[in-house]
Amino acid sequence: MNDNLSSAGIAQRSHRRIGYSGFGTYVDATFGGGGHSREILKRLGKKGRLYAFDQDEDAAAQVPDDKRILFTRGNFRFLENYLRFYGVKEVNGILADLGVSSITLMFLKEDSVTGMMLRWICG
Ligand SMILES: C[S@@+](CC[C@H](N)C(=O)[O-])C[C@H]1O[C@@H](n2cnc3c(N)ncnc32)[C@H](O)[C@@H]1O
Repeated sequence: MNDNLSSAGIAQRSHRRIGYSGFGTYVDATFGGGGHSREILKRLGKKGRLYAFDQDEDAAAQVPDDKRILFTRGNFRFLENYLRFYGVKEVNGILADLGVSSITLMFLKEDSVTGMMLRWICG
């Protein structure tokens, strides 16, 4: 696949565009397995701050042990409220990876908060 269209290629371009400042405040609105958050942390300085959100209960287990990141299990629809609660007045960048993760598909349940349902048709 052309690297421009691969998810890794798109991710790299998104991170380049955000152009992190070492002490800025960033948001990963869809933490998932934490791949993008880990990329952001690599680019952030010691004083940088990353607020990560995901509504999936399994996401919390992937949060890296790093004091610059604060994970919240919740819907990014309420991002503004959460950030206000944490005392954040402005952010330098927000990343939202709105694809569907393979983990979500693998463990999809009918009553899932994703609102999606998979039906496997065999034979
Ligand atoms: C494609 S995955 C993100 C993968 C992630 N960027 C990574 O590097 O592992 C999308 C994630 O968005 C989450 N999600 C979808 N809608 C959401 C919403 N409204 N609020 C919070 N999280 C949401 C899903 O639970 C899923 O984990």
